[in-house]
Amino acid sequence: MTLLHRPDKPRVAIIGGGIIGMAIGWRLAQSGASVDIFDRATAGQGATRAAAGMLAAGVEAEPGEQRLLPLCLESQARWPGFAAELEVLTGLPVGLRTEGTLVVASTRDEVELLRANYEFQRGLGLDLTWLSGAAAKEKEPFLNPRTAAGVFSAKDGQVDNRLAGAALRVALEKTGARLHEGVDVTGLDVQTGRVTGLILGERTIPADTVVLAAGAWSRLIPGQASPPPVRPVKGQMMSLSMDLGNPLLTHVVWAPKCYLVPRADGTLIIGATTEEKGFDAQMTAGGVLALLDAAWRALPGVEELPVKEMWVGHRPGCRDDAPILGPSAGLDGLVLATGHHRNGILLAPITADAISCLVLTGRVDPHIAPFGAGRFDAARAA
Ligand code: GLY
Repeated sequence: MTLLHRPDKPRVAIIGGGIIGMAIGWRLAQSGASVDIFDRATAGQGATRAAAGMLAAGVEAEPGEQRLLPLCLESQARWPGFAAELEVLTGLPVGLRTEGTLVVASTRDEVELLRANYEFQRGLGLDLTWLSGAAAKEKEPFLNPRTAAGVFSAKDGQVDNRLAGAALRVALEKTGARLHEGVDVTGLDVQTGRVTGLILGERTIPADTVVLAAGAWSRLIPGQASPPPVRPVKGQMMSLSMDLGNPLLTHVVWAPKCYLVPRADGTLIIGATTEEKGFDAQMTAGGVLALLDAAWRALPGVEELPVKEMWVGHRPGCRDDAPILGPSAGLDGLVLATGHHRNGILLAPITADAISCLVLTGRVDPHIAPFGAGRFDAARAA
């Protein structure tokens, strides 16, 4: 990235107050930058709030996503340090849990698919253990008695994304970053091919660097030469309340067509549908039915639990399901940190470290080098 001036206290404007924008802002403010974050609504209340917080680089590794795995593993390894630093600074818990994650299967087809995924993931060097149905039920006694096999990933866990979002807000305040909420960015101020600030209606906010971290809304920010190919991918989710004295589940469990995430406060999250419906924010009967049916097949005791909440989130999906991290291909002074799709919570620590380093030094961390915005232009030209 060309940094025409590298001032002692660079002014950075971040578009988007989700976990990505807030984590970048925190890291930059820690390094002495002057940071302003602008959110169209309330910081931490979009995809950051909607997520389940799974840190599941291992069991979420899918064919076609091999290139993404090193980034996910590196960020997962940074989560304990990131969480501890946040908790010490703010005095707030973020609910990091490291007891491992279980994937389960019941029918013959499901077991075959589980076996194929397990072999693919082991082939990538991931440390996973094949379990018999009995061994899976030893870890989680309330699983469906018909559970026939499982895979255990000791390194995959979870963080409470809502708590992490709340802690990041406080961390920003403590490090002197400013959060501006309910603000629409109406354009980028561009002077001779370089972004020199943000336009908010009648006002211009000068900045040495602008970071675009607006998640599913990233391509809608006006004034971009080539808006990033990021679209909303709708997910419906719900939660139930477990009996804290005798919780129905203690590990994150992936079952066919759903995942189940137990929180320390007894909340059991069930996720998630994957729908190409734009920014539609409706819960539907079909969505709830699909979630509950899949959860009930894996863990029949859910039928007794009170319903706590239902919500919709919008993943920032990119054309190749990988994030866009690095300098804008078309405009100097603009840095992209968007398109995290299913991995926004997982990738927050490495995104924050790498993007703050890029903004402050102009250096592209090798971890994010494969995920530059230019890859789409290269694909078009080929
Ligand atoms: N990472 C889980 C989801 O996108 O639903």
